Amino acid sequence: MNVLLIGSGGREHAIAWKIAQSPLLSKLWCAPGNAGMAEFGEVVPEVGATDTQAIRALAERIRADLVVVSSDDPLAAGVVDAVQAADITAFGATRAAAELEWSKSFANDLMARAAIDTAANRTFTDPDEATAYARSLGGPCVVKADGLAAGKGVTVCDTTEQAVAAIDAALRDGTFGASGSRVVIVERMYGREVSAHAFTDGVTVRHMPFSCDHKAIFDGNVGPNTGGMGVYAPPAWLTDAQAEAIRREVTERAVSAMAGIGRPFSGVIYPGVMVTATGPRVFEYNGRFGDPETQVLLPTLQSDLLAIFDACAHGRLAEVPVEWSGAASVGVVMASEGYPGPSPSGRPITGLDAVDADVQVFLAGAKREDSARLVTSGGRVLCVVAQGATMEEARAQAYDNVRRIHFAGAQYRTDIGATASEPLVFAAR
Ligand code: AMP
Ligand code: GLY
Repeated sequence: MNVLLIGSGGREHAIAWKIAQSPLLSKLWCAPGNAGMAEFGEVVPEVGATDTQAIRALAERIRADLVVVSSDDPLAAGVVDAVQAADITAFGATRAAAELEWSKSFANDLMARAAIDTAANRTFTDPDEATAYARSLGGPCVVKADGLAAGKGVTVCDTTEQAVAAIDAALRDGTFGASGSRVVIVERMYGREVSAHAFTDGVTVRHMPFSCDHKAIFDGNVGPNTGGMGVYAPPAWLTDAQAEAIRREVTERAVSAMAGIGRPFSGVIYPGVMVTATGPRVFEYNGRFGDPETQVLLPTLQSDLLAIFDACAHGRLAEVPVEWSGAASVGVVMASEGYPGPSPSGRPITGLDAVDADVQVFLAGAKREDSARLVTSGGRVLCVVAQGATMEEARAQAYDNVRRIHFAGAQYRTDIGATASEPLVFAAR
């Protein structure tokens, strides 16, 4: 098969690495691609990830058998629809199905209709009305830009003052552009977060192992939220009953509900779930692979990823194996100085040649200068991933390798996976 993979993140590097292991692959093309993906396929940097017409033209020119769309902006831009309109098969959600992620108010309506447990929420465009509602909640709440904001449009508030500042930033100052022209004010939930990924063809659902992201920039979950600073899988603290409730009542129920409203969801569905004292409750649905969850999960997939993509795209997911090794897997993100704020680029990255052979390094904000020297080019630079028989083993090897990689100003969390085996206990409130 000729495959065109859209994107340029660490997640797409991991997908390229895994697809390259498939006997079904003839040639991989990546648009726009990155320095890591270039090892596995031909990169086409001039075609942007949301440039639907250029992607469609490229897919036709290379006679793509399958176009893989794995990230939120291209799905929201309708890349899958544009490719399908040219009679080319695509893996990923249509723009209409991806609304589950690109509009939090759409997701909230779907959850209300399907009786999926989520936090109480209301949507506002008027800053005065939003402020009055936030004040009525008396402190703890979460203020979210309605649209996509690279993981940065959410403010978890302890006080009304924090909520008012977040409302003003979105609705008065336009900090998130059009994505923040509506805000959703949400009841604050307490518990532990889990990412629940699954492949689906719109009917059949095949769950991936559960995983846990660390979204705050600093150790101990301190500081502003980022796109994700590191992930471990699977969480030993998640009970079988909680896991089963998430599979049935959160993931499968949403897939059925999407089919029920005439927007069948095909691709990867990834609910973000808070496991609370009253059980799992959803805080968002994503319509794509997580980053860096993908980098941590795919090394434990024993089945052929390309066969799974092709089966999802053709409504045949029930016919292919989806098997996982069960290994513990840990990924640590190394980010640029200043991230999640503005960060410098062009800093040389060294030490990659000293990394263990069984450790994966997936590149994101990194590029080759003069087609040789690797330098930083963005916020999250790379993710170092290791597997082990136990979480402690995987964690030790991941950090051992992180310490061999260097660039000026590098920042990473030192506690990824540290609480993986800590039981989740709820204090009486
Ligand atoms: P989201 O963009 O909806 O995934 O939110 C980003 C992060 O904000 C999540 O990973 C949570 O840590 C936090 N968050 C979102 N919604 C809530 C909520 N209702 N209660 C507590 N924390 C939340
Ligand atoms: N790791 C969080 C996300 O991909 O949304």
